[in-house]
Amino acid sequence: FVPCDFTGKKILITAGPTREAIDPVRYISNHSSGKMGYAIAEAAEKRGAEVTLVSGPVALLPPLGVETVRVESARDMADAVLGAMDTADIIIKVAAVADYRPADSRDKKIKKKDQTGEDLSINITENPDILRAVGKKKQHRFVAGFAAETNDLVENATLKMDRKNLDMIVANKVGVEGSGFEADTNKVTFLFRDGTRRDVPLMDKSAVAHALLDEIGIRL
Ligand code: PMT
Repeated sequence: FVPCDFTGKKILITAGPTREAIDPVRYISNHSSGKMGYAIAEAAEKRGAEVTLVSGPVALLPPLGVETVRVESARDMADAVLGAMDTADIIIKVAAVADYRPADSRDKKIKKKDQTGEDLSINITENPDILRAVGKKKQHRFVAGFAAETNDLVENATLKMDRKNLDMIVANKVGVEGSGFEADTNKVTFLFRDGTRRDVPLMDKSAVAHALLDEIGIRL
């Protein structure tokens, strides 16, 4: 039995990594597979929501019934999210956005030292913080972020929730077997702006998605 408790709600979800081009064949990225964000999009659609999924490059099929917008870089993701947030009731930012990008992406493939005679160095510059921008203009919307942390999970995630003006943050343990990047299961703690918290046991990402939607549903 799946409740239709999100009927009439518009949910904007991000998933996957971003890719920041060094040259036409190389990039900076991370290990996000998109599994967690796609599981939330699929669960929300099943529960009656109208879902827009802004996805970085992943190897997953778009969930049925979900409007999927594919992007590459953090700046593309920022454009898509800020463009779609006006009509959203709920925003859930699962994507692992690259914090930095090469300052000057080359338009031709960079040659090796034996051809150029020079060591390669790449200047990097900071990407926009999409969730912070969303938090600034959230108004009535319910905004949730994720924080992948190896240590001081609750402290680090709480800082991010406060800095980005979120209603909740999902503190995601990474660096342990079966949790975080690429795994089919996840170990998370839900933290809310009012100081409450819920420790969720290790479960399938689909079960984590439903537990997250249950918590958001109560607070709408
Ligand atoms: O995709 P999977 O393989 O299933 O893995 C899932 C996951 C581990 C990627 C996911 O569960 C997760 O934890 N995502 C957050 C990754 C992270 O560490 O985010 P962060 O701490 O860099 O950022 C905190 C929040 O700000 C996130 O909601 C992020 O989307 C957002 N952010 C960060 C930087 C930036 N420039 N813009 C942002 O919007």
